[in-house]
Amino acid sequence: MAYIDEATINAIRRKHPIKEIVERYVSLTKKGDDYWGLCPFHADNNASMSVSTRLDMFQCFACKKAGNVFNFVAGMENISYGDAIRLLAREDGFEVGNTSNYVNPHIKDYEVMNLAIKYYQNNINSILGDNAIKYLLARDIDRETIQKFEIGLSISKQPLTPFLLNKYDLNQLIDLGLTNTDSKDIFTDRIMIPIHDLNGNPIGFGGRIYQTRDDSKYINTKATKIFDKSNILYNYHRAHTKLVKDETIIIMEGYFDVIRASTIGVNNCVAPMGTSLTKNHIQILKKITNKVILCFDGDDAGKMATIRAIPLFENSGIEVKVIRLEEKDPDEFIIKRGKDAFLDKINNPINVIEFKMQLLSEEKNLNDTKEASLYMDEMIKELTKESDDILIELTLKRLATKFQVEYDTLKARFNQYKNNQKNKMTNKTIEAKNIKKIPNKYGQATDNLLYYMIVSGEVVTVAETNVSMIMDNKKRRLFNEIIYYYHKYGELVIADFITYLTMKTDVADTFESIINNNLKLEYTWEEIDDYIKCVNEYYKKNIIDKLKLDLSREPDPMKQANILKEIMKIRGVKTSD
Ligand code: CTP
Ligand code: MN
Repeated sequence: MAYIDEATINAIRRKHPIKEIVERYVSLTKKGDDYWGLCPFHADNNASMSVSTRLDMFQCFACKKAGNVFNFVAGMENISYGDAIRLLAREDGFEVGNTSNYVNPHIKDYEVMNLAIKYYQNNINSILGDNAIKYLLARDIDRETIQKFEIGLSISKQPLTPFLLNKYDLNQLIDLGLTNTDSKDIFTDRIMIPIHDLNGNPIGFGGRIYQTRDDSKYINTKATKIFDKSNILYNYHRAHTKLVKDETIIIMEGYFDVIRASTIGVNNCVAPMGTSLTKNHIQILKKITNKVILCFDGDDAGKMATIRAIPLFENSGIEVKVIRLEEKDPDEFIIKRGKDAFLDKINNPINVIEFKMQLLSEEKNLNDTKEASLYMDEMIKELTKESDDILIELTLKRLATKFQVEYDTLKARFNQYKNNQKNKMTNKTIEAKNIKKIPNKYGQATDNLLYYMIVSGEVVTVAETNVSMIMDNKKRRLFNEIIYYYHKYGELVIADFITYLTMKTDVADTFESIINNNLKLEYTWEEIDDYIKCVNEYYKKNIIDKLKLDLSREPDPMKQANILKEIMKIRGVKTSD
């Protein structure tokens, strides 16, 4: 397949003005020079997204997503930047091949993991795999499902390690968590469930016992350079490709819950692997959906996990709903009650407020006046975290009817809590601002400088000659890329520069956050000067701090004197020589 060059990509981009493409998905209204609409990348009800025809870019002021037409299409269609280019190119009758010369550094590791998957699959299909197959069939996991999830078997009599050692280094196998330092398999006599990263690369295994009870039920691959549990969810890559944009993702607890759900055609399920949900998980979910359903185990542990997970989604733009099951877990629920009962559950999840209402009422005797009043109070407090006005009003009305109190009384209490919260918040933000201001002065100056370099070639030239050094790695790389790009093309078209960054470097996200600084386009040389001074001061301070440290560790007085001289020189103090 032909490699597609940057000039062609830029030409494709120009053929697809951003406004036209965005309007396929979102209706826009003109205000001033720009167009505005509801941002499709978060739950927006304020028309926070602007589309600039002059810059050929979009930008959301609420969720901070920004970019060119390819970023927009990639986000809407859940595809990569390269695929977004291909998609738009195809509309022009172009058929373009590989858009990237980026080679994943872990490609050799995936090769090993793939081979391990195949090896375990061969095992389960051999005679020695009979009992494992029987176990799975008894659990109502049919052969098609075994195949689909690439389920295999580790067998102590047919170890993986010697097989892989024919071709690969022992150290690599140890690093990947397949082998221990004695060249023995980590997984023995377990049903092997392959785990993939967000892009579908194989990165680890979950291994379940199936013929003994006196061993840990599951062993998972240890943390390796490609396997980090907190950054992946089981089945994400399959759920993701099945997902139509905005479809819900269902989060379950276990491998077999996800696998079982797929047997009844529910393919949009993922699971953290024995760990609680983390902020990282929310970030990766955000890439593919804005609606999730928590469908944890039916026991108290599952209830606790649900309670703990809910706040993680606050301000994430993801709407959370909850399912509570009357069986141990989704696996058992589906087996015992069948497909329709489960579909009924997922089609009617309860919202978070409802869930909390149930929880709070479980703990209380609501016939007791005092407890009932406490209950209402707690519910009202919970409601202050809710942003949906209609839901708030409906819930307050329900409470009012249920306990026969005036709606206005409850509403007054609600407003009172809401006001207290607001006052607390403003105090906090003022505090936070004061704390942040000083250490951030340098970071802000760097960001502003980079921003004006992006919008003006004149600033590039001045910055290039006057900035001594940017200390932050990613920002320094971006600084160098801007200069390089500017010299190569003689100008910097932001929407094209994004393509360049996305395809060639890993600083595209730094760029996005700097664009999000959202400064004005005009600047004065005075302020540019200030930013450069600030950046250089910070660099000086860093060098001096390092020299001071050297000085404190230096025993030799002659050398001490030299270091001191150097410090003075950097400070701009004249020395005797
Ligand atoms: N888990 C784990 N290590 C364990 C137990 C559990 O890593 N010793 C993880 C696995 O990812 C498992 C999930 O936590 O899928 C949920 O645990 P559990 O509910 O005990 O397992 P199930 O998925 O219900 O397993 P099974 O149905 O096979 O008993
Ligand atoms: Mn289970």
